[in-house]
Amino acid sequence: MINKYGIPSLLSILDLSVQEIDELVSTAEHIIANPKSYAQRCKGKKLATLFFEPSTRTRLSFEAAMYELGGNVIGFSEANSSSAAKGESVADTAKTISCYADIIAMRHPKEGAPMVAAMNATIPVINAGDGGHNHPTQTLADLLTIKLEKGRFDHLVIGVCGDLKFGRTVHSLIDAMSRYEGVSFVLISPEELKVPDYVRNAMKEKNIPFVETTDLEGAMPTLDILYMTRVQRERFFNEEDYLRLKDSYILTADKLDNAKQNLSVLHPLPRVNEISVAIDDDPRACYFKQVLNGKYMRMALILKLLGV
Ligand code: CP
Repeated sequence: MINKYGIPSLLSILDLSVQEIDELVSTAEHIIANPKSYAQRCKGKKLATLFFEPSTRTRLSFEAAMYELGGNVIGFSEANSSSAAKGESVADTAKTISCYADIIAMRHPKEGAPMVAAMNATIPVINAGDGGHNHPTQTLADLLTIKLEKGRFDHLVIGVCGDLKFGRTVHSLIDAMSRYEGVSFVLISPEELKVPDYVRNAMKEKNIPFVETTDLEGAMPTLDILYMTRVQRERFFNEEDYLRLKDSYILTADKLDNAKQNLSVLHPLPRVNEISVAIDDDPRACYFKQVLNGKYMRMALILKLLGV
């Protein structure tokens, strides 16, 4: 998205063309191979991390990314330590931070809040997760992981399992991978946690092959990638429903017996109970690689948005 001041922001993974994603992946691969040559690229620049919701990976990987580019970081990690607690609007917060920093990474519980920030800021805004809507930089981490594990983005069967209703990483991943030839999806969830209609309708309109099922074990032998997700407790209206659904899918070692030997198991993390820790040492487990890849892709994205 480009705002009225001509400033680019990243709100949805679809803000990036396939070619731009390829370029970001190439930059990230170059950073991995040549970290020292990037160590001063953002010298004198400041990243503001505005996190109105909890985070470990996204906030700290953005901060690590900026430090590894030679820049500095300011920000807050909870709404209560900002003037949002006094009633300041997202628009005014964005205008204010534009006076202090060069780029913003914002996480907010309300869908669309980063868009409001991007419309009002005079610096780029990166959506670091908005409610149950989108999480494009997690998708960038997922894409680099898929590229490094599979060597391609096309002709893959992707199983997405768990909370497909509230899982914003799922929505962004489907958007991103739907653009590649020969990709199909197996959407595995309880009835109550199926993908929202807007996601399903978009897949139908684009003729993306997908099936919806409750049966993880039945789907397992067909999958090239299994993307597990946590049931999003913070988005439920009542605790009773969460407790009933939270352990719908637990990936244990025996469930991988029927999987392909080159299956890649991804998870955006945090994990609660969806993947047994016994699987962490299985070569098919890629979720901690995703964590590291997220830092490299965020470095590449910061460079792109700052035009460095
Ligand atoms: N994947 C992810 O967004 O993790 P955090 O909530 O820890 O940032």
